[in-house]
Amino acid sequence: ARLVVLASGTGSLLRALIAATTDAGYPAEVVAVGVDRTCAATGHADAAGVPWFTVAPGDYARRADWDRALTAAVRGYHPDLVVTAGFMRLLGPAFLGEYQGRIVNSHPALLPSFPGAHGVADALAYGVKITGATVHLVDEGVDTGPILAQEAVPVHPDDDEATLHERIKVVERRLLADVVAAVVRHGVVSDGRKARISW
Ligand code: GRF
Repeated sequence: ARLVVLASGTGSLLRALIAATTDAGYPAEVVAVGVDRTCAATGHADAAGVPWFTVAPGDYARRADWDRALTAAVRGYHPDLVVTAGFMRLLGPAFLGEYQGRIVNSHPALLPSFPGAHGVADALAYGVKITGATVHLVDEGVDTGPILAQEAVPVHPDDDEATLHERIKVVERRLLADVVAAVVRHGVVSDGRKARISW
């Protein structure tokens, strides 16, 4: 299966996913990486010989134009699945119209707790003792789509945002690659709200 990965940051989830795809028997390959800004993720694409493209909102007068440009850029790679791995923007209606149900996101908290861009800091500020990683399908909301898999991660008393986030990312890197493989192999069974995958 063909994967397009969208990223905005350091790209360690992208790097892990690319590494997973090089295992014999992994059922998917990363055919392109898309970013919305200059970021380190493209360095991981380059290192793996994967093409990448930038579609930056600042280059478009309206958000809808950016949405359509991103959709067109992704369409050019004919993905079976789109993976958002630290992509820090909401996808728009054009993108969702084309790919909803086939967009997989990883979030560094146990949804529906602590959605949004600050899930790690919010969990830490709340004082939870267990947080975790969630892999879910993307819909029009902020981290609201059907959950595919979750794994718990303990919060340590001396954690700061960076130490906790890295402990969660260790789990995200594995869980995301495993979920993508499961979805490619067996699909997703969904009633529209809840979703189920088989491993
Ligand atoms: C991950 O925790 C992801 O869930 C969140 O941003 C982080 C991306 O990390 N949305 P990286 O850029 O892949 O290292």
